[in-house]
Amino acid sequence: MSQWQPDSWRSKPILQQPTYEDKQQLKQVEETLSSYPPLVFAAETRALRKQLGDVAEGKGFLLQGGDCAESFDEFNAPKIRDTFKVILQMAIVLTYAGRCPVTKVARMAGQYAKPRSGDFETIDGLSLPSYRGDIINSFEFTEAARRPDPQRMIEAYHRGASTLNLLRAFAQGGLADLHEVNRWNMAFVENNPLKERYHDLAKRIEDSLEFMKVMGINSANTLTLHETSLYTSHEALLLNYEQALTRVDTLTGNWYNCSAHMLWIGERTRQLDHAHLEFFRGIHNPIGVKVGPSMQEDELIQLIDALNPDNDAGRLTLITRMGADNIEQHLPKLLRRVKQEGRKVVWSSDPMHGNTFKATSGYKTRDFDAILREIKQFFAAHESEGTHAGGIHLEMTGQHVTECTGGAYKISDDDLAQAYKTQCDPRLNADQVLEMAFLVADHLRSA
Ligand code: PEP
Ligand code: CO
Repeated sequence: MSQWQPDSWRSKPILQQPTYEDKQQLKQVEETLSSYPPLVFAAETRALRKQLGDVAEGKGFLLQGGDCAESFDEFNAPKIRDTFKVILQMAIVLTYAGRCPVTKVARMAGQYAKPRSGDFETIDGLSLPSYRGDIINSFEFTEAARRPDPQRMIEAYHRGASTLNLLRAFAQGGLADLHEVNRWNMAFVENNPLKERYHDLAKRIEDSLEFMKVMGINSANTLTLHETSLYTSHEALLLNYEQALTRVDTLTGNWYNCSAHMLWIGERTRQLDHAHLEFFRGIHNPIGVKVGPSMQEDELIQLIDALNPDNDAGRLTLITRMGADNIEQHLPKLLRRVKQEGRKVVWSSDPMHGNTFKATSGYKTRDFDAILREIKQFFAAHESEGTHAGGIHLEMTGQHVTECTGGAYKISDDDLAQAYKTQCDPRLNADQVLEMAFLVADHLRSA
């Protein structure tokens, strides 16, 4: 294989990129970004990689979640706080149920670029470039808004930095205190229509915390009860941006993409001979790849070997997104083959992207039951193949949106219009996410 460089992806075919008109401006922006401080520190990504290594070996669970696409407009503290809170609430339930550490990775502080099914969108006979995420262009359907603007990369950097700063403050400044998190969960359960179903588990978590307190283990003397670590991640789609934040770590001499702790390659850009594979093979972060129903066994082994030639546990997370109706047919054979070949990976389930459909109302949605069904079958497939169901990857928000149907509040197609706010794919709302955590808990225990 040829020599890797941060820019060696540029000589490969690449999909899902904007066409910038002003190449000179693009170059200037890339240079500016290259001179800016990294957003994360390489040693942090190594800590995450180590935790994911434990997950790969069955000694932990990965919880990854956040917006489909973060938006420049909805950039405020309550939004960041609320998503942070539900991730923690979900994590406490999963930790207790699975009796194993849960590694928390947010789709935040950089999830600004989106792959699209078409390059153009046509409304009433007018065709404009598709919206590709706020790091590239703007959602509004006008010619000016849809023109890719390199300057947006600088904006994404600053917004990412502020988001990360607040997440770090929340994680270490007291908001993540387990007693607090548990109180939020008790409030969730008390108010939920399916209270009876969830109450028992919530109460047991509460009792455990009470017991520890009596034994003298409390937030004042035990840091792990008071603080947490939350890592960041996004789809590294716009490689101009990702390259500019890729730096040599002075401690190890290795290259790291310092735009986030973990990066992943989307389902549409994971071709073996393309630019994204080339870029990812050289960075030392823990990385993910989305794996959809078209993936073949041989192709998967080639992909694993290209990205993780040393077979290092924790380097590679395979995020499967098959769809509830397809997973049974497509996942087991992949699990079997990867196990047979002795490749070490984290298997995580994205139960969102294979279950999207257009509702009669015209909204793009996902149904709670289909999402749950895919997760259950993910666990079942791992159980029968003797592999470890290592994580889940959700599109979710702490806000009370109405984007996915179903759940205890029985959101229907007609309700979607009430608070449909996503700029891209439909997310589970705060209540639906927590319900999901309580329902997944049972499976985690047996796994
Ligand atoms: C996503 O995670 O938002 C996404 C686009 O997923 P996929 O690449 O699996 O379609
Ligand atoms: Co999405």
